Amino acid sequence: MDKLIIDGARKLQGEIRISGAKNAALPLIAATLLAPGWHIIHNVPDLRDTRTILALLETFGAEWKREGSTLLVKTDSLNNFEASYDLVKTMRASILVLGPLLARMGKAKVSLPGGCAIGARPIDFHLQGLKNMGASLDLEDGYVTASAQNHLTGGTIYFDVPSVTGTENILMAAVLAKGESVIKNAAREPEVTNLVDMLISMGARIEGRETDRLTIHGVKSLNPAEITTIPDRIETGTYLIAVGTAGGEATLTHCNPSHLPALIVKLRAAGLIIKESENSIFVSRPAKVQSIDIKTHPYPGFPTDLQAQLMALMSLSTGLSVITETIFENRFMHVAELKRMGAEIKINGNSAIVKGVNQLNGAQVMATDLRASASLGGAGLAAQGVTEISRIYHLDRENEDMVGKLQALGARVSKEKE
Ligand code: EPU
Repeated sequence: MDKLIIDGARKLQGEIRISGAKNAALPLIAATLLAPGWHIIHNVPDLRDTRTILALLETFGAEWKREGSTLLVKTDSLNNFEASYDLVKTMRASILVLGPLLARMGKAKVSLPGGCAIGARPIDFHLQGLKNMGASLDLEDGYVTASAQNHLTGGTIYFDVPSVTGTENILMAAVLAKGESVIKNAAREPEVTNLVDMLISMGARIEGRETDRLTIHGVKSLNPAEITTIPDRIETGTYLIAVGTAGGEATLTHCNPSHLPALIVKLRAAGLIIKESENSIFVSRPAKVQSIDIKTHPYPGFPTDLQAQLMALMSLSTGLSVITETIFENRFMHVAELKRMGAEIKINGNSAIVKGVNQLNGAQVMATDLRASASLGGAGLAAQGVTEISRIYHLDRENEDMVGKLQALGARVSKEKE
């Protein structure tokens, strides 16, 4: 495994390009299972997770090639419908193949994703939705086997809380089902809308784009797609917050500021200067940041995937900040590591109370989940001295060329073998 070495206390300055979104690219790639022909997906980041889902598709008989950031995928001769534990265990989002495989092949067997560092993360909504569309489900030996004798039929599913991959999985199953399906309390994340747009371009009939009620009129077959992956709003947010934490000013290009409504309001309230244009954003930190409170919510609320990074920023604020996590029950693992760097944080239930300090100090810390790693990265950039973040394979999963981009902003950062 690699570790990241950051020689901190240096302001960031410069311009970087934001990559395509991992969490949008994964469902877009899974959706290629729905129709034969070459699908073309632009702006696909080259990350461990995108490589994993392509490896999974290969085991079903798919072919693919990459031309720069454009991915071409062909799923004409599918000859296997089983997603093995070996691949699924390395990436929870592998569950995204369940809906499309079942819709196209009438059968799918997918290893259950199992536990996860950020909480229990069940898949009961995915399974209930498929059941409501007439699928028979069998849970045995850690695998879910789903089958639909003739065809899936339209069904209605209500999510107790909006689920991103749950909405995506049910959407992909419903587009080829017989009749009408309705997803109530659907997730409205931009990644879901990106998938809706891909499916519509393939000939799917979907109403309610960008709303929490999606109605899908099943069609008999679909055509191959050409679609562009949306810019990564979490990568964008991570660099905006990093500039706030370390100081300096930067321009992020090829992004979509309109996908970060809650973050931009909060960062302005903290005193950052943010100038948005249609596909770029400028950020600078003129003075020490003010403390702000945040509570994570489904889109368009404050994203859980930026909570850890914002906590690093608040560690250096002028006062007291309350950060409440409402999506995942175990997403404060960065707290212990930030405290090793001098942060003052107390956890009270699902809230963290952060008292701003004047300075963080470099330390040896360990990355836990993906976003916790990004939080420690931000703290390391601001800290006096050297920070060593071990187990950074999580960061490689999410951030395309992170070291290169940080170096382009003037950070003294390098990757070393552990
Ligand atoms: N939930 C259930 N049952 C289900 C599904 C979800 O109870 O069947 C609950 C979850 O436990 C959670 C809430 O619903 O409390 C929302 O979870 P959601 O299903 O939306 O999460 P997800 O689809 O598994 C995606 C992202 C995550 C991101 C969350 C929240 C992908 C591949 N993953 O996960 O991203 O944190 O939405 O926005 O899209 C990451 O990239 O690091 C990451 C974890």
